[in-house]
Amino acid sequence: MTDRWALRAADKVTIIGPNGSGKSFLALGYVAHMPSVIVHDPKHEIELPDFVIISRAEDMLRHPRVIWRSPQLADPVDAGNWAGYAALQRKHTCLYLDEAALVTTANRIGPWLRAAIITGRSQGVGVWAATQRPKDVSNLFFSEAHAILVSPLLVGFDVEKVKGFVPEDYLSLRNKEFPPFSFYAVRRGEKHGRLIRAGS
Ligand SMILES: Nc1ncnc2c1ncn2[C@@H]1O[C@H](COP(=O)(O)OP(=O)(O)OP(=O)(O)O)[C@@H](O)[C@H]1O
Ligand SMILES: [Mg+2]
Repeated sequence: MTDRWALRAADKVTIIGPNGSGKSFLALGYVAHMPSVIVHDPKHEIELPDFVIISRAEDMLRHPRVIWRSPQLADPVDAGNWAGYAALQRKHTCLYLDEAALVTTANRIGPWLRAAIITGRSQGVGVWAATQRPKDVSNLFFSEAHAILVSPLLVGFDVEKVKGFVPEDYLSLRNKEFPPFSFYAVRRGEKHGRLIRAGS
């Protein structure tokens, strides 16, 4: 797409797709241009120009544009909770969680991350999340999302979970031809989504 589909830093955005479907590329294309961002990078693979890469959680409070490489053996719920806490302390911040299954489970989410998702908007805090495994992450990432972007490549139980949160035309679109790295994108309240693709 030449014009990027409009999403705001303080929105809640959930991006869903299998390994390699382009979730990080899509999300980072947006967050790279935002003035105040925490990127949670539990896989230790993200780099962005003019972002500071940190390993200590408290350093999320020190830099406007920061990539937190949390300890790889951290309890996922704890890591997400720290990131949610930092975003709420900072206010006016986009928190991008590069793999939501590494900050929540289907049944557990830390209280600060929950608060960031539920009450963050009024403080300018947006929570953006990518996930390969929607069936393994808290429903809050879907029920609270202002926008959901789903890869047509999703299969199995993950499709079943997503079906509950997006209009039916997602299913018909999955049977069609689509360019690589496409996402079905829909805003809350809309009856139909559209295909988008991040520019490279
Ligand atoms: N729209 C695009 N145009 C060109 N290349 C892309 C596009 N989207 C993704 N890619 C490339 O495809 C590869 C996989 O993309 P990406 O890492 O974003 O996938 P992912 O869904 O985040 O995967 P994972 O689940 O493993 O994190 C990367 O090398 C990325 O640069
Ligand atoms: Mg990724």
